[in-house]
Amino acid sequence: MSKQKVIICKNILETLKDIVSKEDYSSIFVLTDTNTAKICLPKLSEVDFLSSAKVIEIPAGDENKNLEHLAYIWQFLSENGATRSSLMINLGGGMITDIGGFAASTFKRGIDYINIPTTLLGTIDAAVGGKTGINFCGLKNEVGVINPADYVLIDPQFFRTLDHQNFLSGYAEMLKHGLISSEEELKKVVNFDLQNIDFDKFTELLKSSIVVKEYFVEKDPKEQNIRKALNFGHTIGHAIESYSHEIGKPILHGYAVAFGMVCELYLSYVKVGFPLPLMRQINALIFENYEKFDFGCKSYDRLYELMRHDKKNISSEINFTLLAGIGNLKINQTATKEEIFEALDFYRDAN
Ligand SMILES: NC(=O)c1ccc[n+]([C@@H]2O[C@H](COP(=O)([O-])OP(=O)(O)OC[C@H]3O[C@@H](n4cnc5c(N)ncnc54)[C@H](O)[C@@H]3O)[C@@H](O)[C@H]2O)c1
Ligand SMILES: [Zn+2]
Repeated sequence: MSKQKVIICKNILETLKDIVSKEDYSSIFVLTDTNTAKICLPKLSEVDFLSSAKVIEIPAGDENKNLEHLAYIWQFLSENGATRSSLMINLGGGMITDIGGFAASTFKRGIDYINIPTTLLGTIDAAVGGKTGINFCGLKNEVGVINPADYVLIDPQFFRTLDHQNFLSGYAEMLKHGLISSEEELKKVVNFDLQNIDFDKFTELLKSSIVVKEYFVEKDPKEQNIRKALNFGHTIGHAIESYSHEIGKPILHGYAVAFGMVCELYLSYVKVGFPLPLMRQINALIFENYEKFDFGCKSYDRLYELMRHDKKNISSEINFTLLAGIGNLKINQTATKEEIFEALDFYRDAN
């Protein structure tokens, strides 16, 4: 897998112009959702070559990251003369970069694509690393391919229009990057003032957080080994996320990951000796900022079932990445049903 070029842009229009002028694209398509078409697309409209680009718009929201909209994108490309040498630009959050990356990777067996993530979560997590796909049969990201974008162009200006919840959703992944890398990185993230956001300071933080993701992706693009570090908080987090959708009270991915981290820090403490004071500090930060998702013990069996469907499982056992300390990774760990239920109890009792 070739390394994708991740660029934090000072002037995204110039960067985009430079990239596109080097290639001889037969046509350019820009994929947006209903919100990014209004909020983000006008910021790119000054680039003359984009005035002739065709805009594909799909409805916003993860529930639309499905086969129907994937087929719509393929059909739009097909009916509007896309060829093997067309370019697709995905302008949006993780929903758009996931479905757009998958559409581009499969249309005529693959065309070039660029991700311009416009949410923090999309930037920190979804747009970098090459995982693309759609939800299928009620399961998140059930069908997809790993195929990195040619470029990921990041412009922190886009985050200024995000609501606080979507900001926090991305911040949870930054917290994860701190926990799986180093004390220095974690300190920077934990000390960032979430109430009065300083966007210049934030851009610096963003850079080092992306370096953490790139480090693991480069070492192990196909997630056979060390890339599993990035799954910390996601085994239980994904189950909570899917469950929240099932019961019609959807929570954002980063919120689910934050709650998944509370549970998996507990498992880390119990099973591999993660330090208790640090676990308490991280939990306090999460509960101070993220409105708790409530569920009762009657939901445990369903949550457990969802974990059993997780793509990360190698055998019938549920696969976890745990931490013995900051950056002290313990991949391919398992936990019994009782231990998992205990971790869910711990989450529900914590505040
Ligand atoms: N591929 C991966 O590795 C990976 C990793 C994590 C998450 N994901 C996927 O990413 C998705 C979640 O990403 P997300 O949180 O970015 O969701 P999203 O793309 O649905 O965006 C969240 C909301 O913000 C709006 N929005 C986008 N940019 C905006 C802006 N600049 N200003 C204001 N509003 C804006 C969107 O229209 C949407 O309503 C899920 O589908 C998840 O499965 C993929
Ligand atoms: Zn994630």
